[in-house]
Amino acid sequence: MDPSAPDTPRHPPAAAFDLIMAATPPPGALDAPAARRNAGPLLAVLLAELPADGTILEIGAGTGQHAAAFAQALLPRRWLPTEMDAERRDSIRAWMTLLAPDGARPLPPRALDAADPADTWPLGDAAPVSAMVSANVIHIAPWTVTLGILAGAARWLGPGAPLILYGPFHRDGRHMSPGNTAFDADLRSRDPGWGIRDLEREVLPVATGVGLRLGAVHEMPANNLCVVLRR
Ligand SMILES: C[S@@+](CC[C@H](N)C(=O)[O-])C[C@H]1O[C@@H](n2cnc3c(N)ncnc32)[C@H](O)[C@@H]1O
Repeated sequence: MDPSAPDTPRHPPAAAFDLIMAATPPPGALDAPAARRNAGPLLAVLLAELPADGTILEIGAGTGQHAAAFAQALLPRRWLPTEMDAERRDSIRAWMTLLAPDGARPLPPRALDAADPADTWPLGDAAPVSAMVSANVIHIAPWTVTLGILAGAARWLGPGAPLILYGPFHRDGRHMSPGNTAFDADLRSRDPGWGIRDLEREVLPVATGVGLRLGAVHEMPANNLCVVLRR
């Protein structure tokens, strides 16, 4: 087996993953049950789709549980969590305290509003970014955030590098489950700018317009998808 192949994990999913998944949140850390549930399936897709090294930029890192659980399992890649909300950046830092400061930790979180113009993202010293990952963000945010993430991928990813979007999607006008229909209605009642995005009718036209192509669609538990777009 070629150890440099992109889909070959150089390290087995490591101790840090199990530690974070089983941990009681440390002081200041927020706990997202969904992040605990989807971390394993999401990590499997990341190991298959991410390049073998480089900086992985996470958009909307939330509690930081994914960042803390994935950083060691994805070495030698560097996981860079970003989040626009200050309380959540504190939570990301709090989860990191459970990990040994020996390279198994993610990089310190950065403030990033994905709706800001891509040229202003605080990534100058992190470039080139070898992949971008955003889980459960684009439906719980205004459409401008989807536009911003796609523009950011076009701006910061190198040729062929992936943007991986995890979450619920509609497919070419179809809802994937009654549960997703109800979730979409709930999101839109909470904020009319939120809502499950249609992959074929909304996301892909914008993605292709900025120079991204569809690489793969992975079906995930609970009627979610991992959509892999490549620059
Ligand atoms: C449902 S949480 C998902 C968090 C995490 N990715 C996960 O899977 O557990 C959605 C996250 O998107 C973030 N978010 C919303 N709008 C954003 C924006 N404009 N730029 C960056 N992050 C944003 C929120 O602050 C929140 O942390």
